[in-house]
Amino acid sequence: MSAIRLRVTDAGRLGAGSPADRVLQLTRFDQLLEVAPHPPLGAGCYDSGPIGNGIVMDEEHSGPDAGASPMDYDAELQLLNEVLRRAYGIEPHDNVLDIGCGAGQTTREAARMAAEGGALGVDLSAESIARARELAQAEGVRNVTFEHADAQVHPFPSGRFELAISRFGTMFFPDPIAAFANIGRALRPAGRLVMMVWQGHELNEWSRAIEEALGGSRDAPASEAPDPFSLADPARVEGILNAAGFTHVTFSDVHRPIHYGRDVAAALEWVRGFTCTKEAFARLAAASAERALGRLRGTLAAHADRDGVWFDSRAWIVKARRR
Ligand SMILES: C[S@@+](CC[C@H](N)C(=O)[O-])C[C@H]1O[C@@H](n2cnc3c(N)ncnc32)[C@H](O)[C@@H]1O
Repeated sequence: MSAIRLRVTDAGRLGAGSPADRVLQLTRFDQLLEVAPHPPLGAGCYDSGPIGNGIVMDEEHSGPDAGASPMDYDAELQLLNEVLRRAYGIEPHDNVLDIGCGAGQTTREAARMAAEGGALGVDLSAESIARARELAQAEGVRNVTFEHADAQVHPFPSGRFELAISRFGTMFFPDPIAAFANIGRALRPAGRLVMMVWQGHELNEWSRAIEEALGGSRDAPASEAPDPFSLADPARVEGILNAAGFTHVTFSDVHRPIHYGRDVAAALEWVRGFTCTKEAFARLAAASAERALGRLRGTLAAHADRDGVWFDSRAWIVKARRR
């Protein structure tokens, strides 16, 4: 199995949230959604680790320059996120749906832009949703709501949203046409989709570098797990979106480095937390694991400079419009 493939992760350990969460839920989208229990499904192996996505973040260490550790997914994606944020085109009265919102940085940013509207973030991971609610409350973002839900099948209110956004949260649907059709139904006619997805493995230095260090190969037998590169091919994505009821599909190339930590030690801790890394090490005998760890440390060191550890990356911003 490829070292950079995804693994199904636990997405349902926590309950529905604290009383404080419920206060937040009453701001805009309360009672719109029924949260159904669902089978666990993955954040990306490549970035799932301590689920990336801010789950390990503490407010005092939320950026690459703040302390020795921990890293988080928001810090990793900071330069890509700048481009994505500019692409949303959110109007003050918009209602925004954030698909696979993780710990909700993009949802909070959308809510701030939609000052007279609001944003709803949904994610399969109850742990991420709990963290998203904590962070929104800590930052005092009132027009945001989070729900533990499977975007592929959740009965969203029909035509409720002007815009659906996602930062790497749409690549893991078991049935992408059904999922995007479901998201489309939540949009008003001519509502927009703006999502960031990875371009191919070969174009992403971080993916090739980790794979090489861990001794994996994309040529190995395919895993059953979801693939972070499943929406890398524009022709395929356009076909999926057209079949799901979207039109005017466009792709913008986003070529920015991603950040793995302020130094090699922090980056090694971050990458060792990825599910794929843990799995790769678990498969190796002690001596081989030691060698792989050395290779990984060397790879990270080769990408370190005074600003920390950075890898080249390429993503698409995909835009589309509901028919
Ligand atoms: C790579 S993470 C990105 C998280 C977040 N968008 C961010 O940028 O921090 C992918 C997220 O998509 C979520 N996800 C995967 N499939 C989903 C689905 N069918 N419905 C809702 N969320 C899903 C995962 O639980 C995970 O939190």
